[in-house]
Amino acid sequence: MKNNHNTIASSPYKLFNPPLQPSNLLSLILFFAFGLSFGILLTFQLKNVSFNFRFNDFATTTTTTTTTTIMGLQDFMYPSKTTHNMTDQELIWRASMVPKVRKYPYERIPKVAFMFLTRGPVLMSPLWEMFFQGYNGLFTIYVHMSNSSSNWTVPEDSVFHDRKIPSQEVQWGKVNMIEAERRLLANALLDFSNQRFVLLSESCIPLFNFTTIYSYLINSNQNFVESYDLMSPVGRGRYNRRMYPTIKLHDWRKGSQWFEMDRDLALEVISDATYFPVFQMYCNGSCYADEHYLPTLITKKFGSRNSGRTLTFVDWSKGGPHPARYTRNDVTIQFLEKLRSTNYCEYNGRKNQTCHLFARKFTPHALDRLLRLAPRVMQFNP
Ligand SMILES: *[C@@H]1O[C@H](CO)[C@@H](O)[C@H](O)[C@H]1NC(C)=O
Ligand SMILES: *[C@@H]1O[C@H](CO)[C@@H](O)[C@H](O)[C@H]1NC(C)=O
Ligand SMILES: *[C@@H]1O[C@H](CO)[C@@H](O)[C@H](O)[C@H]1NC(C)=O
Ligand SMILES: *[C@@H]1O[C@H](CO)[C@@H](O)[C@H](O)[C@H]1NC(C)=O
Ligand SMILES: *[C@@H]1O[C@H](CO)[C@@H](O)[C@H](O)[C@H]1NC(C)=O
Ligand SMILES: *[C@@H]1O[C@H](CO)[C@@H](O)[C@H](O)[C@H]1NC(C)=O
Repeated sequence: MKNNHNTIASSPYKLFNPPLQPSNLLSLILFFAFGLSFGILLTFQLKNVSFNFRFNDFATTTTTTTTTTIMGLQDFMYPSKTTHNMTDQELIWRASMVPKVRKYPYERIPKVAFMFLTRGPVLMSPLWEMFFQGYNGLFTIYVHMSNSSSNWTVPEDSVFHDRKIPSQEVQWGKVNMIEAERRLLANALLDFSNQRFVLLSESCIPLFNFTTIYSYLINSNQNFVESYDLMSPVGRGRYNRRMYPTIKLHDWRKGSQWFEMDRDLALEVISDATYFPVFQMYCNGSCYADEHYLPTLITKKFGSRNSGRTLTFVDWSKGGPHPARYTRNDVTIQFLEKLRSTNYCEYNGRKNQTCHLFARKFTPHALDRLLRLAPRVMQFNP
């Protein structure tokens, strides 16, 4: 037993465990107390003097080491912003993509894309605000503003806030008007939930409430691109023989610029690389591409599902190159009721009293009365 004990006592272990003596204990306590106070002092010192530095340092290290950005399905379904730096060519290529798997892996609630082709601000925006109120998730707004020097400050709680797309100059009747329309369609196509696409101007108004317009568009089995063959200088007279043989004279059509179409047709329009270059080359003068490109393309290639009529009412009865403009005194209950039920039109193979869902051209002077009459006549927010 004794031998055994000695072996343990002389082992290296013993060197680090000298028997505790009062003086040793005291120095240990002192050393510990000194260490503790030094630590506390150091902490305060760092907090006061270099907190910012240490915080930034810490933030950088965590972002680089611990947070990896996780992409959700949403990131592929629609862009979070309307601002991007893609060229038209890049944008159109990206927007033309179609999922080969046709079944959506989420509950897809179809939306209507309201595409405003404007010079400056959307003049009728207070009326549209009233129209969209309460229907978030069923619509998306895009604004192409051709006047780069016009500034439109949109409040943050507005449906128009941050909805401007990268825009370029547009001249009346020129082919760059079609480029702007294609740009609007392509931006709207980036959102996979957009199902119907309507082109509007700054002076357009809705003639019905949101539920009526949404259901009319979403349930329609046709497109609304006006198209007719006009034997006159402002019809076939605008055809350029150099478009032959891609476009023949008997293919040439005319129609209102203000269209409404479904996703399949919108994809075809932005992907057209046959007819559009011919228009770019030979229809940018007094040819008025905006009145001929879509009617000609769609009648020739996708005519079977086109109604041939427009949903946007406009009054050409006064003649001249521009339609009638409505100001304050024109806006009455009778006038609005008349626009809401002009005639009988075909809708999904049946006669329907509603031919037009939108109307133009309204001046800012008409706004006051429209705001007052809309809740009553158009049954906005009852
Ligand atoms: C566009 O923006 C992206 C992201 O900010 C950037 O990486 C890219 O270099 C930009 N491209 C051009 C042509 O400015
Ligand atoms: C563009 O907007 C500016 C600023 O509002 C205005 O002065 C100018 O006349 C506008 N240009 C056109 C072509 O409308
Ligand atoms: C925007 O336009 C308003 C007038 O419409 C003008 O008072 C304001 O200075 C303009 N702001 C900028 C940044 O150009
Ligand atoms: C919208 O208007 C229609 C009539 O056009 C009306 O029957 C319907 O109740 C209105 N919807 C709402 C939500 O007010
Ligand atoms: C039409 O566009 C072409 C090419 O962009 C240009 O050379 C031509 O001058 C334009 N014509 C008119 C009438 O603007
Ligand atoms: C016209 O179509 C709309 C939308 O489907 C429908 O609600 C309405 O009852 C139709 N009106 C007539 C007169 O058929």
